[in-house]
Amino acid sequence: MKRRIMALLLAGAMVLGMTACGGSGGSTGGSTGGSTGSSSDMADKKVGISIYKFDDNFMTLYRTELERYLVEDLGFSASNITIMDGKGDQAEQTNQIQNFIASGVDVMILNLVQSSSAPSVTDMCNEAGIPVVYINREPDPAEEERWASEGIKATYVGADARQSGTYQGEEIVETANKGDINGDGKVSYIMVQGDPENVDAQYRTEFSVKALTDAGIEVEELLLQRGDWDQAKGQQIVQDALTQFGDSVEVVFCNNDAMALGALQAIEAAGRKVNEDIYLVGVDALVQNVVDGRMTGTVFNDHFGQAQAAADAAVKFLKGEAVDPVNMVDYVKVTTENAAEILEKVK
Ligand code: BGC
Repeated sequence: MKRRIMALLLAGAMVLGMTACGGSGGSTGGSTGGSTGSSSDMADKKVGISIYKFDDNFMTLYRTELERYLVEDLGFSASNITIMDGKGDQAEQTNQIQNFIASGVDVMILNLVQSSSAPSVTDMCNEAGIPVVYINREPDPAEEERWASEGIKATYVGADARQSGTYQGEEIVETANKGDINGDGKVSYIMVQGDPENVDAQYRTEFSVKALTDAGIEVEELLLQRGDWDQAKGQQIVQDALTQFGDSVEVVFCNNDAMALGALQAIEAAGRKVNEDIYLVGVDALVQNVVDGRMTGTVFNDHFGQAQAAADAAVKFLKGEAVDPVNMVDYVKVTTENAAEILEKVK
């Protein structure tokens, strides 16, 4: 099990590294137990998938694994899987969903552009008798309860972002000076936030800081700004913040690693040095940067586990089996210490 996580971390780091550089690498992440079994009876089932936008590093890793797992491990035919780019536009994505219904897909896996559209999308699919697996952007808990109480075939597969936020904060608390580089008795930070349509942004922001205050550390927020999960925006925000606040910035929290990659570029361009005069943490999969000491830490967002759980849920629906309304996959904390060990073991 441990080995598996390590392999995943390495693969994730490599693939994210590639996509971040503009490549389009595919994942070779290992298949695992926990599937509902390889089923040749899935070969003629049609799956409609829509991703909120293809231009998202993390969702590219996720999508690659989802497709691979459906075909290689679960026996779906590649020609029966349609994956659409929601292009960050809910109206466009809703059209895609209507087309899926019209073309008679058997199940949908949806990464909504706006999680708030889940109730209307669920109703559309439910009326057409098509089960839905929502991924990555969690619908409102009240909506999830409705599925259970009304017996609607819909489910959510994701990860509890409170956990990832807490891990990010702990990574700062665990540094030698607990994030207080200049010794003034408080940790001064900037927060680069993801697109709030994903509750992950809100939770990671809140819980990363909470881990510090829970540890009795005083904090000062110098800036909180939306970077929409985007590397270029992360770079711009951190570049401006370092110009404005200079050496008083001790910690840069990024809600994801794509923005942390942008932050790292800005930090290095400003002549600052991570883990010496500034700390930087993200979430997703940039393990190599942690090993290299270019990031203080990250939190592995297990896109392999999530993609596989989503596909397994789709199969359960197709087989008429019960599916829990909410399915969470654990995050894994990655610090300078265990990242090196992880890479060593998979060499
Ligand atoms: C990931 C981000 C990604 C976002 C998309 C988050 O869980 O950490 O990297 O951009 O999902 O909704």
